[in-house]
Amino acid sequence: MKIHKYDTVIVGAGGAGMRAAIEATKRSRTAVLTKLYPTRSHTGAAQGGMAAALANVEEDNWEWHTFDTIKGGDYLVDQDAAEILAKEAIDAVLDLEKMGLPFGRTPEGQIDQRRFGGHSRNHGEAPVRRSCYSGDRTGHMILQTLYQNCIKEGVEFFNEFYVLDQLIVEEDGVRKSAGVVAYELATGEIHVFQAKAVIYASGGTGKFFKVTSNAHTLTGDGQAACYRRGLPLEDMEFFQFHPTGIWRMGILLTEGARGEGGILRNKDGERFMEKYAPVMKDLASRDVVSRSIYTEIREGRGCGPEGDHVYLDLTHLPPEQLDAKLPDITEFARTYLGIEPYTDPIPIQPTAHYAMGGIPTNVEGEVLSDNTTVVPGLYAAGEVACVSVHGANRLGTNSLLDINVFGRRAGIAAAEYSEKADFVELPENPAELVVSLVEQLRDSTGTERVADIRKELQETMDANVMVFRTEQTIKTAVEKIAELRERYKNVSVQDKGKRFNTDLLEAIELGNLLDLAEVMAVSALARKESRGGHYREDYPNRDDVNFMRHTMAYREVADDGKDSIRLDYKPVVQTRYQPMERKY
Ligand code: FUM
Repeated sequence: MKIHKYDTVIVGAGGAGMRAAIEATKRSRTAVLTKLYPTRSHTGAAQGGMAAALANVEEDNWEWHTFDTIKGGDYLVDQDAAEILAKEAIDAVLDLEKMGLPFGRTPEGQIDQRRFGGHSRNHGEAPVRRSCYSGDRTGHMILQTLYQNCIKEGVEFFNEFYVLDQLIVEEDGVRKSAGVVAYELATGEIHVFQAKAVIYASGGTGKFFKVTSNAHTLTGDGQAACYRRGLPLEDMEFFQFHPTGIWRMGILLTEGARGEGGILRNKDGERFMEKYAPVMKDLASRDVVSRSIYTEIREGRGCGPEGDHVYLDLTHLPPEQLDAKLPDITEFARTYLGIEPYTDPIPIQPTAHYAMGGIPTNVEGEVLSDNTTVVPGLYAAGEVACVSVHGANRLGTNSLLDINVFGRRAGIAAAEYSEKADFVELPENPAELVVSLVEQLRDSTGTERVADIRKELQETMDANVMVFRTEQTIKTAVEKIAELRERYKNVSVQDKGKRFNTDLLEAIELGNLLDLAEVMAVSALARKESRGGHYREDYPNRDDVNFMRHTMAYREVADDGKDSIRLDYKPVVQTRYQPMERKY
């Protein structure tokens, strides 16, 4: 076991982690730990843009952006946080421009902007061009730009280091972060990183679904590490299904395609979104569009022999526009489906895309151990966190914005803390939990296969807690997940070696997914209303009297070692916007 000492340790090298690192490294010795290589992080898959009311191409202002974010989140958004997000968006874009990001340009040379779902002029009057973009490779460009700037600032990276445990130590009656424990993929060695401040920026949990836009690596490792140490997870029932995933594969086809004028059509060629969202049409918020697609499919207007998808039609757009603005997704259609998007519509279906819930934080990125108490030295930002700026449904392009605004804030707050705080003494045997987890899995003689359990988990999640849910389907998911968690105790790892043991890590990731899927389903079962991405057919209306509150899920362990989930609730922060009926 090796011990390292840093002022600030950041877990994850996607956009949030690297944006935090750029700030933290200016004032504190900073290390970034990533289970990948930084430029392979999932931020690189984000396509369509980053929202900011620059008003470069149309009248706009940050207050309209705040309102759209709150309405888009179905009023579960903490409004103070949404104001910060929208206000700081403008500088966040300009900071990236100064760092060298090649944004798309207007003919006059300003940063160009495109339309995206739920972003509107004057509180819903009409779609507005608010999303700054770099073709349909905005996330890729952000990732590369942030990485270059991290290197310039001298940030230290530990690549292919899997963080498997969060160390929390009680000092003078206060639970504080002492550091993290990581597993080095190349050697199988265990490393303890003692740190004054730890920032989680390790991304989402989408791999518990089968049809998803998420990379294989999105296994909720940060959420699971904190949850197992008794910290709550907030609003985990809210998961976003992006309307346009490639049919059956789930690969993202950016909403920017509809921002550029693309249209959704059913088997009769009808532009069906006009029925569901007369003003915003194809650019309504994602929860609305995804439900509309499945309504078309359920009512027999889906396309193809099985009627299980609809079309994204770009054929009316000039090929030059497609080549200039949407080069990747048009190529994806050719490569994965053999479709020529100049002339043929693209089969699509909603795909699991984004976790609105996560580790609860305040607006400085400080992690909360209950509704109000901060865990000194512990921070989170980006998809792993729940600030909550996305509430029950995130608006497209608010995610690249979130990682930049709250990544920066968490980096500054962590570095300020590191400057003042002392190291917390490590527990006597800091790697104990990780060593026993690794040994137990490696030595297991069990007969269950990781791939089988993962497949059953994903199929269960797709079938039962996707766009439409009922008490019955959620209960089915809860029961199945409980069965899979039991079977997981008997899981086998074929590779018994130490070097590059991805078999072992896949088993660990599956354990994370199972725990988080359970939290998701249990939280969803208790929320007897429909709000944003959580749609209960048995409770089709939003219920502000009983459910205008955040879910806080805690893991509790009984004396016999059995764990269970305790749910609690936290009020939503409301500043200026009263909940209204949500129409697009
Ligand atoms: O459609 C997209 O380009 C995705 C953007 C986002 O999720 O923010």
